[in-house]
Amino acid sequence: MRKTIAVIEGDYSGPEVVREAVKVMKKTAEVFGHEFVFKKVLMGGEAIDATGVPLPKETLEECLASDSVLLGAVGGPKYNDVPKEVRPERGLLALRAGMELFANLRPARVFPQLAAASPLKPEIVAEGIDFVIVRELVGGVYFGRHETAVVGGQRQATDIMSYSESEIERIVRVGFETARVRGKKLTSVDKSNVLDCSRLWTDVFHRVAKEYPDVEARDMLVDNCAMQIVRRPSQFDTIVTENLFGDILSDEASMITGSIGLIPSASLGRTSCGMYEPIHGSAPDIAGKGIVNPIGTILSGAMMMKYSFAMQEESAAVETAVNAVLDEGYRTADIFSEGCKKVGTTEMGELIAAKINE
Ligand code: IPM
Ligand code: MG
Repeated sequence: MRKTIAVIEGDYSGPEVVREAVKVMKKTAEVFGHEFVFKKVLMGGEAIDATGVPLPKETLEECLASDSVLLGAVGGPKYNDVPKEVRPERGLLALRAGMELFANLRPARVFPQLAAASPLKPEIVAEGIDFVIVRELVGGVYFGRHETAVVGGQRQATDIMSYSESEIERIVRVGFETARVRGKKLTSVDKSNVLDCSRLWTDVFHRVAKEYPDVEARDMLVDNCAMQIVRRPSQFDTIVTENLFGDILSDEASMITGSIGLIPSASLGRTSCGMYEPIHGSAPDIAGKGIVNPIGTILSGAMMMKYSFAMQEESAAVETAVNAVLDEGYRTADIFSEGCKKVGTTEMGELIAAKINE
């Protein structure tokens, strides 16, 4: 198969991790007899530097015309003081909206080899951590009206959170479909004791639940969920939640797995063209030193093969390669522990790529 992939390297550490993911994907294509064509496009800080805007029109067009999109990470201190309309993050949000990527899948899974890297007590980790957060990605407060006005002599800021039934229903369905092929347990996370958006959300959730009698469905308040994720993460299989809650909970979930550098994500819409990125940011503090962990981005490439290209075997081969390299004791600095072999970004990518043909 021939697939075209739009590549957004991004800012700071972004290009370093993307380079390794591309390396591993090229090797996978070679071994399995595919052709992956990578096409660099600009978004975020790099686009602001080159064109003045975070999402040039051509980038959105290229992404829509590709079979899939691979992204590093955008943003960083250089862009902290630019007007909000042209912040790098704006480019990311506009791209998610422009491609209608309403479903964001963020797995939280502990690699057995790295259990000691989790900040949770060993007995809690031993119960197992393997769940996925399905986050609504193009609605809610992220896309409501944002305004700062002067009212009564002082500044007053407003951000509107809004959800329609159909927006809720389509993401809740992704939650049920995801749970159905996993552990058949779905938790809908909300703040229905306070927010109308959450009351509507929960209502739609329980209506749709009737169509999935094989999936155990429950709802949970977001504050309680934040607590349960560190108290007993083994209770979760699939979580479905709105945009802002999903943003916050997915960072929490990634941390308990040991390192945010390990976690991939998939953003999916109505077509098979999705966007795949590690869930970590551009990590400006460690950029350019050759030490960032490329595994989250490499596994994002594996998710792309599975969800956008229906290449199950190829995707599994990448996961197996990552596991094999970890089994052999190779670690980047963020997951390093005594007795392991410390490697840099490039070496980690090369080790994983080399394992693909075995
Ligand atoms: C994420 C990030 C983004 C978000 C930022 C960079 C806008 O935190 O993908 O989780 O909030 O969605
Ligand atoms: Mg986030």
